[in-house]
Amino acid sequence: MKNKISIIGAGQTGATTAHWLAEREIADLVLVDVVEGMPQGKALDLQEALPVIGKDVQVTGSNSYEATAGSDIVVITAGFARKPGMSRDDLQAANAEIVRKAAEETIKYSPEAIFIILTNPLDVMAHLAMKVTKVEPHRVVGQAGILDSARMRAFVAMELGVSVENINCFVLGGHGDEMVPLTRISNVAGVPLEDCLPPERLAAIVERTRKGGGEIVNLLKTGSAFYAPAIAVTQMAEAILKDKHLIVPGAAYLQGQYGLKGIFFGVPVQLGQKGVEKIIEYKLNEAEMSALRKSAEGVAENIAKLKI
Ligand SMILES: NC(=O)c1ccc[n+]([C@@H]2O[C@H](COP(=O)([O-])OP(=O)(O)OC[C@H]3O[C@@H](n4cnc5c(N)ncnc54)[C@H](O)[C@@H]3O)[C@@H](O)[C@H]2O)c1
Repeated sequence: MKNKISIIGAGQTGATTAHWLAEREIADLVLVDVVEGMPQGKALDLQEALPVIGKDVQVTGSNSYEATAGSDIVVITAGFARKPGMSRDDLQAANAEIVRKAAEETIKYSPEAIFIILTNPLDVMAHLAMKVTKVEPHRVVGQAGILDSARMRAFVAMELGVSVENINCFVLGGHGDEMVPLTRISNVAGVPLEDCLPPERLAAIVERTRKGGGEIVNLLKTGSAFYAPAIAVTQMAEAILKDKHLIVPGAAYLQGQYGLKGIFFGVPVQLGQKGVEKIIEYKLNEAEMSALRKSAEGVAENIAKLKI
């Protein structure tokens, strides 16, 4: 039987996620959006592209949640994106209502689904989705860390002229400007990153990574990044459907790991059929732990503002 993935929000990130997922041929896809005709139109256009690349995937667009019934994975990307000058946190009040509705409706039709959350502010929206759906914490994961780490990898590759395949970067923490790029354990083909770049170049890459989302927002002016976030969601969905036990950075519900409790936060997670199978605890030094705690304080403050 084919797997099924529903994507709530058929905007830039939602439609691009459908595009990457269709190419992988791992599931039938449903796009849901509030705009009439738009998810149907994008789904049909994508369906009509697939003969060219020989992929047999059914793509459906709908304005109704009924179409999502029986999904293995629900991806929530519905909501407002940043405009220049805005922080992700500025989106919280408006997006909380949208994510609440998406979570309430999708869990009715897909009681067994794993939820991948993309809507910002990411860690807070993942928390809200878990509370609204009342599913076990391992069935909700937020996408941020794959994207932030990929940005850092891209910047290191540009700087060193080395294949991106050789570059391993690890960005943990909340999905905001206080995120924590772990330079000590990032490496280029096993060689610590700190030995590959002078401190000032490394510091510049860390800063550009932290502000990576804002850099794109300022360039686009009318929206935020979508290719990289969408491929990050695709990697997570594939790991779950194929039960790969893949370790990637993702926002998971912490229950004491890294000394933190009761918040979604970016940590290394092992993804498989159950969703978050395991949270991996790196041995961090005091400076790294203190940066994580600072990032966690911001997430906890925003979660406290949620009316659940
Ligand atoms: N976590 C990440 O790494 C990351 C990366 C990029 C974007 N994002 C976030 O993802 C969200 C979507 O970004 P985008 O670029 O796709 O925005 P977009 O504006 O292109 O698309 C959002 C879509 O959501 C739809 N929508 C609004 N309310 C809805 C509802 N109640 N039900 C269903 N659909 C609804 C809109 O009609 C729109 O089509 C934003 O909050 C953005 O900040 C997160």
